[in-house]
Amino acid sequence: MPIRTSKTEIKERLIDDYGREIRSLRFSITNRCNLNCIYCHREGEGRRELVEEISAELVIEIARVASGYFNIRKIKFSGGEPLMRDDLVDIVQGMRDFEDDISATTNGVFLKKYAAELADAGMDRVNVSLDSLKEERYDFITSSSNNLPKVIEGIYSAIDAGLTPVKLNMVLLKGINDDEIVGMMDFVRECNKRGGGGVVILQLIELIPYFNPSVQNYEADFYGVEAELKSKASAIKTRRMQHRRKYFVDGVEVEVVHPIDNTEFCANCSRLRITSDGKIKPCLLRNDNLVPIESVDERHIINKLKLAMRYREPFYGR
Ligand code: 5AD
Repeated sequence: MPIRTSKTEIKERLIDDYGREIRSLRFSITNRCNLNCIYCHREGEGRRELVEEISAELVIEIARVASGYFNIRKIKFSGGEPLMRDDLVDIVQGMRDFEDDISATTNGVFLKKYAAELADAGMDRVNVSLDSLKEERYDFITSSSNNLPKVIEGIYSAIDAGLTPVKLNMVLLKGINDDEIVGMMDFVRECNKRGGGGVVILQLIELIPYFNPSVQNYEADFYGVEAELKSKASAIKTRRMQHRRKYFVDGVEVEVVHPIDNTEFCANCSRLRITSDGKIKPCLLRNDNLVPIESVDERHIINKLKLAMRYREPFYGR
């Protein structure tokens, strides 16, 4: 007998006019952050002032409806910094029974404190932003100081708590960290020795420069980097989601997130976002088609999710 996760029995799929089925939700649960990364796109929300944050109850109800009615069982929490919300553990606990994959993207500064608790609550894994292993560079990128050692400890705690695979998010920045890919791969290898193999993945991310004109000079040669990975890879896989490539190089798994001008990326986008103030966001790169969710009522949530689908359009490839 399947577990009943929704009051409604009928199931539909959320598929947009371009044939793209939604398979995951990405909740920004706060726009507050303890760091201030020079390139940050703030999940496309473009603001930092305090908003009324989406309630834990609404997050759980949206996830429940998405799971029970639309068969979406994959959740990612982001921010701001999601660990700034002291009810994240409760949120995870509240949805663990109807999700297959719960993860968070965190800067890792508070991870040491929360890793075991999050794992116990039902979180499956984490992505940790780590753009440099050199303290001076890390401080420059994050506009902060004394945090790198905490992040490294946070990564170890996540591995030890089994929040794996841990993905290390590295946004490639020309002239700042683009000479550190090999160093980062060495670090991944070191982590993997600790955790028993294959638990840490490097995720190389192309800089999206639109939100912050001052970082346009940092756009790295992403095609060049990918060509090099390709030439060195012992195996290459393509993920279903956004057709992201995974390269296996010298025992390290390197996933590449390469969205810009990439029609293949958009054509295979299977993710719907929810903003920190409770609006459905059909595309990271647009803010003119948000759909507010104003109640925890199941029918209301179903209707709003379906409405947001009508606004979905591939950003690259229109
Ligand atoms: N370009 C690319 N990725 C970004 N991130 C934040 N801002 C940007 C940007 N301008 C991603 C990073 C970070 C995560 C929280 O969001 O991967 O780890």
